[in-house]
Amino acid sequence: MNKFPIGVFDSGIGGLSVVKQIMQTLPNEDIIYFGDIARIPYGTKSTATIREFTRQTVSFLLEKKVKALVIACNTISAVAYETVSELAGQIPVIDVISGGIDAIVNHNKVYKSVGIIATPVTIKSNAYQNGIRRHTKTNINIISKACPLFVPLIEEGLLDHPAMNAIATDYLEIFNQNKIDALILGCTHYPMITNVIQNTIHYKLDIIDPAINTSHILRHKLTSLNLLHPKTHTPHYTFYITDNLDKFIKLGEMFLNIALPNTHLVTI
Ligand code: DGL
Repeated sequence: MNKFPIGVFDSGIGGLSVVKQIMQTLPNEDIIYFGDIARIPYGTKSTATIREFTRQTVSFLLEKKVKALVIACNTISAVAYETVSELAGQIPVIDVISGGIDAIVNHNKVYKSVGIIATPVTIKSNAYQNGIRRHTKTNINIISKACPLFVPLIEEGLLDHPAMNAIATDYLEIFNQNKIDALILGCTHYPMITNVIQNTIHYKLDIIDPAINTSHILRHKLTSLNLLHPKTHTPHYTFYITDNLDKFIKLGEMFLNIALPNTHLVTI
């Protein structure tokens, strides 16, 4: 099983921010990515719908024989983690919310006040808020803000557009009024607009990309289960998406800085 790929999935292009970290942390691992672009956004849908879409995605990836599953979507992690782990059976499941919580609670600084930005479903689930409180002994102030329009703007590739700046100013105003020490990018799309976010908040703070710790947790898990790829080799990356092939390749190549020749359109 060591030579099997790692399955990574998201509702769209955002999970590539997790792929990027895995490529760096585990440079010998093959990756199969799945992005459900035809049905994005998940972050404004009902739990039942998200779980059904997730079931289909996980079945697709399990057929491809993956050795681990990485939920590269906070929304799915928040409301459908159990769905994934039930289907996965013995296959390890790693999720980005655990990565984000780990980044806060195991940081060398003690944060007094933390902000979370995410989709409406993730914020409403309280998964981050509860997870952080469970793991910190001190009283921590948490300010959360749902940012539903970031995802469609990013999927459209409008990373630098005036509309993005206007929306960011509106959403992030709360963090200019209430100073925080760290901000969790609680949606895997958001690392693509880190600059916009940093420039909109008028003071220095730690911007936490949960993908970094998620890739460390993944490495740890694969190591402890003896599942690391045994050889130094050029890894193989394959991408399956459910719509808009050309747009995905264009944005994906820009973001990952590599060519994406193995990208395929699929229906599930
Ligand atoms: N990338 C997904 C996340 O991390 C959200 C995108 C969506 O709304 O589907 O939550």
